[in-house]
Amino acid sequence: MRAVVRDRYGPPDVLRVEDVPMPSPVSGQVRIKVAATSVNLSDWEGLRGSPAYARIGGLRTPARRTLGSDIAGVVDQLGEGVTQFQIGDEVYGDNLALMGGFAEYAVAPESVLAHKPTELTFAEASTIPQAGAIALQGTQRAVPGRRVLINGAGGGSGSFAIQLAKRLGAHVTGVDNAAKQDFMMSMGADAVIDYREDDFSRSAAPYDLILDLVAHRSVFAYRRALARGGRYRCAGGTVRTLLRVVTAGSVVGRATGRSIGVLVVKQGPSHFEPLAARCATREVRIHIDRTFALDEVPAALAHVGEGRALGKVVVSTSLG
Ligand SMILES: NC(=O)c1ccc[n+]([C@@H]2O[C@H](COP(=O)([O-])OP(=O)(O)OC[C@H]3O[C@@H](n4cnc5c(N)ncnc54)[C@H](OP(=O)(O)O)[C@@H]3O)[C@@H](O)[C@H]2O)c1
Repeated sequence: MRAVVRDRYGPPDVLRVEDVPMPSPVSGQVRIKVAATSVNLSDWEGLRGSPAYARIGGLRTPARRTLGSDIAGVVDQLGEGVTQFQIGDEVYGDNLALMGGFAEYAVAPESVLAHKPTELTFAEASTIPQAGAIALQGTQRAVPGRRVLINGAGGGSGSFAIQLAKRLGAHVTGVDNAAKQDFMMSMGADAVIDYREDDFSRSAAPYDLILDLVAHRSVFAYRRALARGGRYRCAGGTVRTLLRVVTAGSVVGRATGRSIGVLVVKQGPSHFEPLAARCATREVRIHIDRTFALDEVPAALAHVGEGRALGKVVVSTSLG
């Protein structure tokens, strides 16, 4: 089968398409004939080995030759002991531990997969697991009339998060680069900030909830951006910032009547299926910026990693 592989961390040109042996599912796993795999910032981070947390499990050499974790496709082989799926089932899920989605076939534990809603295409379903889990958990404390800020709101998780926070009745501010301002408004943002022009942490009216997808500021900046009683959670960013948030952030937050911490995203179908159900009824919109073919994976990753994507980007196999 064809797969996009790499042997070292680096820019997109370390990737190449190769004929590799078909993977075989072990106990508790299924093999999926991949139809579509969406690109997440975590794929870009895993490609480059940066931030440092992207090297967990493979400090010098990548532990996974093939990236791609948000997979949608059809089950074509069952490992021993699989109980939830049968051959021919249409499935989707976030295969973050094994990855392998930028290929014609991938194996995944059945525990990370769900049955694909029939209302969603494979491409649409592939956009939901990782970004959806982050968006659902990152916005669950949004409440009517309160001010929510989403930093990095023009990407995959952010485009879902804007819509979810709006539907909970919050006043939503989206922060991203200039090219994504109109897009964030179209997703429902009440206000937008171009991060290259303005610093949200110096905004006059502080926020009640901040979901930060690309954290790189000091904990004092986050404290300043929060109203008393407010909550800041970062899902991604520089390792230095994440460490500071975990250590100094909780102390500074507690001392000043705020909560500052990292969003450790819970994974698995129960954390993304509620969003898929809302996408299936079209209550929440899925915005696919571009679809790439398997041999265009380097360009697909660069499109996301270099910040050109509005919402989600999908890689579709010829089998899809
Ligand atoms: N906590 C967990 O358990 C967990 C699990 C999985 C993933 N994650 C993380 O969650 C995050 C989700 O990202 P995603 O997939 O939604 O990414 P994405 O689609 O790439 O969106 C990120 C957005 O942030 C923008 N951005 C970059 N620098 C910025 C800055 N300084 N200020 C404001 N916006 C900025 C990017 O645009 P430009 O680059 O064009 O400016 C892009 O639009 C990633 O950091 C990922 O590593 C966390």
